[in-house]
Amino acid sequence: MKNFFARLFGKKDAMSIDITIIGTGNMARALSTQALAAGKNLQILARNTEAATSLAAELGQGIASGNSTEAPAGAIVILALPFDASKEYVTTQGAALDAKILIDISNPVNFETFDSLTTAAGSSAAEEIASLTSASVVKAFNTNFAGPLTAGNPNGVTQDVFIAGDQAARTAVAEFVSAAGMRPLEVGGIHHARELEGFQLLMMAAQVNPALADFNWNTSLRVTA
Ligand SMILES: NC(=O)c1ccc[n+]([C@@H]2O[C@H](COP(=O)([O-])OP(=O)(O)OC[C@H]3O[C@@H](n4cnc5c(N)ncnc54)[C@H](OP(=O)(O)O)[C@@H]3O)[C@@H](O)[C@H]2O)c1
Repeated sequence: MKNFFARLFGKKDAMSIDITIIGTGNMARALSTQALAAGKNLQILARNTEAATSLAAELGQGIASGNSTEAPAGAIVILALPFDASKEYVTTQGAALDAKILIDISNPVNFETFDSLTTAAGSSAAEEIASLTSASVVKAFNTNFAGPLTAGNPNGVTQDVFIAGDQAARTAVAEFVSAAGMRPLEVGGIHHARELEGFQLLMMAAQVNPALADFNWNTSLRVTA
């Protein structure tokens, strides 16, 4: 009966949620689009409940939404937030994130200079977040800009998604990436977030470098052979 009413009113049983996205910005929209492309049941939570509900309604029927103070229902939780806000979120949620796979997509870049990271040498945003939670943290999607990610595989070129974290969590994220039609590249443990964040610093610096006129935030990082 509960499921009948859930279908009738376009809401899904919280137990059936696959992926929860925290945030409603550019990356939340891009990753929501890809989660739906992958056939995942989606929940969008944000500090601005109205924005979460509005994005959910815009993207389709049956997408759950609410405030980010609620415990997330998805087995996979994507932090589509600035790095500092992600740290605050995991600290506040505490035990509600136990047994979750938490995807950190952040790029802790100095946005004044595009010349350095804000994390300490020998660490990474993903590792700092992992130190604050019992969830299994995975670094993924930080090398994918929101525009191409929203578009899917622009110009027919399959996007690469680099994934670092524990094996079981990596496998779950890789399954999502494959189901969305992109190529997962598992690069190893969470410590490799350092290289992924460092490399994306160079990619971002390229977008704002006047000498590289073709770089306009619509580039995608892809390994070719
Ligand atoms: N944009 C890209 O191409 C791209 C690519 C790869 C990775 N990333 C990373 O993805 C993350 C999100 O980027 P974005 O481009 O989607 O940013 P965005 O469009 O500015 O969206 C940021 C989201 O975070 C929320 N937020 C900001 N500060 C917050 C706080 N203190 N507490 C709670 N929520 C807060 C915003 O809520 P309000 O609307 O209420 O302010 C909004 O929903 C960042 O870590 C970024 O480094 C971005």
